[in-house]
Amino acid sequence: MVGQCQVPGDKSISHRALILGSVAQGTTHIQGLLESDDCLNTAKCLGLMGSDLKRIGPGEYIIHSAGLSQIGEASDILDAGNSGTTLRLLLGLVSSRPHFYVLSGDASLRQRPMERVVKPLRQMGARILGRQGASLAPLAVTGGGLVAESLKSSVASAQVKSAILLAGLGTVGVTSITEPSLSRDHTERMLAYLGCPVMRRGNTISIEGPGELEGREIVVPGDFSSAAFLLTAAVLLPHSKVTIKDVNLNPTRTGFLEVLSRMGAAVEIDNVREVCGEPVGDLTASTSNLYGCMIDGELIPRVIDELPLVALLGSQAKGETKVVDAAELRVKESDRISTTATELGKLGVVVDTFADGFSVQGGQIIRGGSCSSCDDHRIAMMLVVAGLLGEEEVAICDPGCIRVSFPGYGNLLNELCFPEHANRCIDYIESF
Ligand code: S3P
Repeated sequence: MVGQCQVPGDKSISHRALILGSVAQGTTHIQGLLESDDCLNTAKCLGLMGSDLKRIGPGEYIIHSAGLSQIGEASDILDAGNSGTTLRLLLGLVSSRPHFYVLSGDASLRQRPMERVVKPLRQMGARILGRQGASLAPLAVTGGGLVAESLKSSVASAQVKSAILLAGLGTVGVTSITEPSLSRDHTERMLAYLGCPVMRRGNTISIEGPGELEGREIVVPGDFSSAAFLLTAAVLLPHSKVTIKDVNLNPTRTGFLEVLSRMGAAVEIDNVREVCGEPVGDLTASTSNLYGCMIDGELIPRVIDELPLVALLGSQAKGETKVVDAAELRVKESDRISTTATELGKLGVVVDTFADGFSVQGGQIIRGGSCSSCDDHRIAMMLVVAGLLGEEEVAICDPGCIRVSFPGYGNLLNELCFPEHANRCIDYIESF
């Protein structure tokens, strides 16, 4: 695998650009927005609430806003589709607005835990009803009348933290949230970039409301989590050297680089600079001999979305790779501890699972065979990389979910791979 490329815009930053741009006074001009299913759902929901958001070109949007008051009552259900970020962040945003809202999503999202965000919002006074005591969507909110509180989250979740910060933005006084370890801080960075600084002391983040944001230029960098699939393919495939340009390198996201370094992978970081409050740089990965390693503790939130790839890398390393403290993986788009093990298992790779993680022995052969995306974009894309290494062909059922975060994934791999690898999985991933 050889070449130079870019990956589509960062998913987390794209959601935040749409949401914060919709409540920032004046004009926000977004470039490089990820136009994937998840982010388009956020845009659609914001439009239903009155956001004046216009697409002016590929990944390019203009939003005019009067501020928070731009967010009115939605005339229909806010459908977040598959996107936890959309549902949880918008739940926080609308909680401070004096209107009625119903939020829901697809079958997977309707099974994902919501009490983690409903509980602190209720502590602020939000009136939220839903299935099973509002622990599952659909959720109905009568917003407004919130009181600033000091809150504690039992999980290191940027979605929970961001929901509270968005509720705090529209609430008089200082709202703060303490998390067990630091989760991704894109919301804090973008709030500060748009003129509403947040305070951080240890793992406690505070915002003083009501906050006023000012519209600005937002350039969305490439998504590190998408780049991770290409880095993994480059490290594992023979004779590879791939450079991915303009990737977001926010340290709360790049735990996977630390894992790659512990495993002995050759990855270089160049041209690091700041773009709109976020660190951005170029990554070059080459074929490497890998060693197993242990991954736990505060590293977990910084590598959470890349852990299925760690299982694949571990299976090709020397020795054992073990991940613990990662029970959060069980409540993602699929139960990723289970789906990683089951689907890699179908290709001949043994992954042992436990309640909060997995272990995998190195030196395993990927036989090939038929497996399923389990309707989870990151499982599908990990399996595509496994397919590039398979002794025989790998067929992946229901790969359409890749659109959730990485449109064009198959074509990009096809361009970068040597001819002997190029067409191995491509039929499956571009045929949806
Ligand atoms: C995200 C936060 C993480 C991550 C998800 C995107 C975000 O979820 O897994 O892909 O944009 O805030 P949690 O907040 O549930 O950890």
